[in-house]
Parts: sequence; structure tokens; C-alpha cells
Amino acid sequence: MSEMIQAAPAPKKRMLSGIKPSGDLTLGSYLGAVKNWAERADQFDCFYFMADLHAITVRQNPADLRRRTLEQLAQYIACGLDPEKNTLFIQSHVHQHAELGWILDCYSMFGELSRMTQFKDKSAKNADNINAGLFTYPSLMAGDILLYQPDLVPVGEDQKQHVELTHVIARRFNGIYGDVFKIPEPFIPKVGARVMSLTNPLAKMSKSENEDTGRVLLMDDPAVIMKQFKRAITDSDTENCVRYDKENKPGVANLMTIYSAVTGKTFEEIENEFIGCGYGKFKPVVGEAVVEHLRPIREESMRLMKDKAYLESVYRDGAQKASYVAEKTLRKVYKKVGFVAR
Ligand code: TRP
Repeated sequence: MSEMIQAAPAPKKRMLSGIKPSGDLTLGSYLGAVKNWAERADQFDCFYFMADLHAITVRQNPADLRRRTLEQLAQYIACGLDPEKNTLFIQSHVHQHAELGWILDCYSMFGELSRMTQFKDKSAKNADNINAGLFTYPSLMAGDILLYQPDLVPVGEDQKQHVELTHVIARRFNGIYGDVFKIPEPFIPKVGARVMSLTNPLAKMSKSENEDTGRVLLMDDPAVIMKQFKRAITDSDTENCVRYDKENKPGVANLMTIYSAVTGKTFEEIENEFIGCGYGKFKPVVGEAVVEHLRPIREESMRLMKDKAYLESVYRDGAQKASYVAEKTLRKVYKKVGFVAR
């Protein structure tokens, strides 16, 4: 009897995020994002995609883009994103992204897009290719998000401004047409480690630049990873002691953050472990811990990359599920703005 009056379980909250396959995934993308995504599948209904439409705002070599997109999918899976529990898809396979992106271009203001710091940075770096896509990137991103009506959009600090603009665009649209879009909660996860460049600990570890910029790739060879850590910039203080002080010792703090993320040790435990050791001893230990942590991910990614049929079944299935959700929103939007029904 009591079973009959039990309420149905509340639907899971929906989460969505994506990464541009414009460079190979780094230790920073893994520790800051993908690792934490993998831990959320039971709690949330998750959608993750390879943002290939966004990647071409900067000129890409086609063969590399294709390889990186598939490799990114293989790496998502190898990092623990189970395709049975998460919807994994390639952005360009779900045509609704480009369609809603265009509509939202018409509800994004020139002034708003001009103020985006990423646009300013990227146009400074690509002065010979300041294309319209680079400029309207945030309205496409707003479309990516709003199509799925997610509750949460986990992003790094550098994408926060874009998610805030998504709110502005969604509110503007809802203000005209009624409640079409759910306004997602801003969500900068506290748990994700913010990993900085090993050679410039004041800048984020970037996937788009060359190896001299102090980055470690998920697919890097163990020997390369060790070399990167051995030459990591520690601080030019005279102390030569492993102590967490982000302000004055950003290089050491970054290595401690990485070591903590891959071993689960607290900063205090790390300080105790390295009492009396200089940076010269600390750096290779961090390197080894990273190598061991990444080893199974790298091996599994390489195995999956050889299984093209499996990857294909995952992204086809993912696109189908994503498209089903996206189409519902797009249809509503088309109707609201006054397009004749097909
Ligand atoms: N702009 C993000 C990046 O550069 C990728 C991205 C595109 C994204 N669309 C998104 C992230 C929607 C979260 C939600 O990494």
C-alpha cells in the first residue's frame, strides 16, 4: 500500500560542457575538467561534446582537427566518461547548434560581443584572421548551452564571461517571447584543480600552444612528461623549500596542486613529505606521480583509437540522443520567432 503513494524520484539535474578540439588535451584540461566530469555521472544527466564548430574560428589543419576530435572522444572515455551513462557527441553532428547559434546572433549585441576578453585576446594573437566567427563565438556557445536547458554548466574561469553573456542573451529572448530558455546556474567547480603552465605559473596551461609553453599532454610519452617536470620553473626565492604560498611561490604552488590532484594528498601532507628536500628532488617525484596517473588513460586511449567502429557507435548514438533534446528547444524557438512550421 505504502509503495503506491511513494513519489517518483526527482529527475536528475542536467549538466553540459564541451572542449574545443583545437589542441590536444592537456593535464590541465584533465585535472581541471574531465576528471571531475567523470565523477558526476550518477548524480546528473550529463552531456559532453567536442566543440569542433568552435575550433575553426582559428585556422585548423583538417586532418589534425579530425584526428583530435576522435582522440578527444577516446580520451573522454579513457578518463572514465562511460558512454552508457553520459551523452558524448561531436558538435557538428547535431545541426541544431549551428541553427540556434545563428538565431542567437540576432539577439546578441555588437557591444556585448566586443567586450569579451577572449575575443580581444584571440584577435590580438591572430591579427591576420579576425573573422566573424571569432567575434560571434559566444552566441554559438550560448546556443550550445540553451539547446539542452541544463541546470549546470561547469566551465573554467576563462569561460565564465561567456556563460554570463549566455544569461544575458537568454533573459533578453525570454523577455520578448516568454519562458523559452532555462537560465543555467553559473558553476565554476571548486573541486577542479586550476593547473598553470610549468614554465609560466601565472598563465593557464594551454592546449593550443607548443611544448615550450610548459604544457603536458594526456598523450605525452612518459619521458617527455618527466622532462617537462624537471624543467618546471620553481621560484627564485632563497628558501628552496616545498611550502604552499601561491602569492610568493606560484611555481611551487602549481606543482603542489598537480601532485595533490593526482595523489589525493593534502598540501599539509605534501609539505611534510618533502621537509628538508629542495625543489630538485620534488620536481621529479611530481613528474613520476603524473606519469603513473596518466599511464592507464594513455593506454586506454590508444586502444580505443584503434577501435574506430566502437568510437563511431559512441558518437552516432550520442548525436542521436543530443539531437532529440536539442530539436525540442529549437522547434519552440522557431515557432516563437515566427518561422513557418515545416
Ligand atoms: N568555449 C569553450 C572552450 O573554449 C568550449 C565550449 C563551447 C563550451 N561551447 C560550450 C563549454 C558550451 C561549455 C558549454 O573550451
